[in-house]
Amino acid sequence: MRLRNLVAWLGLAGILMPFFFYAPGIRFPGLTTLPPVARAALPIWLGLRSPSSLSLLFVSDLMPENLVLYLPPMPHLIHPLSDVQTPNIGGGTRIWQFCVVLKNAKIGSDCNICSHVFVENDVIIGDRVTIKCGVQIWDGLRIADDVFVGPNVTFTNDPFPRSLQHPDKYAITTIQRGASIGASATILPGISIGRGAMVGAGAMVTRDVPPYAIVRGNPARISGYTQEQPTPVPPLPLTAFPTAQMKGVDFVRLTKASDLRGSLLAVELAKHIPFPVKRMFYVMNVPSHHVRGEHAHIQCHQLLVCLQGSVTVTADNGTSREEWVLDRPENGLHILPLTWAAQWRYSDNAVLAVFASHSYDSADYIRDYEEYLKIVHEGSCKV
Ligand SMILES: CC(C)(COP(=O)(O)OP(=O)(O)OC[C@H]1O[C@@H](n2cnc3c(N)ncnc32)[C@H](O)[C@@H]1OP(=O)(O)O)[C@@H](O)C(=O)NCCC(=O)NCCS
Repeated sequence: MRLRNLVAWLGLAGILMPFFFYAPGIRFPGLTTLPPVARAALPIWLGLRSPSSLSLLFVSDLMPENLVLYLPPMPHLIHPLSDVQTPNIGGGTRIWQFCVVLKNAKIGSDCNICSHVFVENDVIIGDRVTIKCGVQIWDGLRIADDVFVGPNVTFTNDPFPRSLQHPDKYAITTIQRGASIGASATILPGISIGRGAMVGAGAMVTRDVPPYAIVRGNPARISGYTQEQPTPVPPLPLTAFPTAQMKGVDFVRLTKASDLRGSLLAVELAKHIPFPVKRMFYVMNVPSHHVRGEHAHIQCHQLLVCLQGSVTVTADNGTSREEWVLDRPENGLHILPLTWAAQWRYSDNAVLAVFASHSYDSADYIRDYEEYLKIVHEGSCKV
């Protein structure tokens, strides 16, 4: 009998709880005017983006159409064994045991801050960030949305530390959206880890990590690029002519003649190259671990021809990414303006010739991938 009563009470409490709990929530009366399909889709979308808003799905299902919809003030969870001084913590964030968070730190929503994490004052952490155990987030750290920080990752903010001497300003270290840092990696001060990059466990990161690059070792070097966007790198048969699926890149066939006397590559500037050539340069003697390029041009077209050896090119148009190995001089790769490109994995003997449509102009370069994404998606251009 008692058990039945308990079950009944729990059931009633379960039904009423959302109304009590969310009554002081934020009002979004406009939502009730949405068509039913949008009303149904919105909470599902929010629920998928952020687990803490699943409760919204529950609430909106219970609300009759003509009532004002209250959104929950999504709660965060702070374990009582932690010392969290900042009020700036987003909904759904969980901070586990033995953490210390100082009073000016900003932490977004739906983050998971595991035990033994220390967060200093001048720190901004985005949404859906995971910080595993034993990490210290010092002043100057900027961690964007969806970043993963593995256990015992070490950040640094003072390049030349001395006891009891503090720099006027700490270096700003930026971890861009969706990047992951493997266990025990060390990140030197002022580094930027690019969007979607993967830092291997134990890596010593001494230079900026390009977007989507995988780096590992001491000092960390690029070992590849992540395959999260379509990046086919099929080994080409000798006769194959590569193609590009993505917009912003094209292959151009040049004329190569080979016989016992050697090979000749002929480039008819007006016929083969789809833009008037103003400049030409060669890249050679690149240590294989070095990445070149890593930028987009605003106006300049480029045609890349690997005259000898091989080089890998990764191109990105802000929506999709592709990668090719240039290892035949007859296959010219045309990179259009506003296409982000990097050349890497140079073979020892590689010689890359680049035909360009414009004279050198430093203002034509976009060197920051985040700025590049803004330009291609929002259409704003600095020149
Ligand atoms: C760097 C990393 C992403 C590479 O993954 P991958 O591309 O699948 O690499 P593979 O496992 O195929 O290894 C390729 C080579 O790199 C080496 N390697 C892999 N990870 C390495 C690392 N962190 N440091 C140095 N070398 C590494 C491998 O030994 C292998 O070498 P080999 O070709 O001489 O045999 C991965 O190994 C890593 O470090 N992940 C982070 C794990 C982590 O810290 N998780 C935290 C949550 S608990």
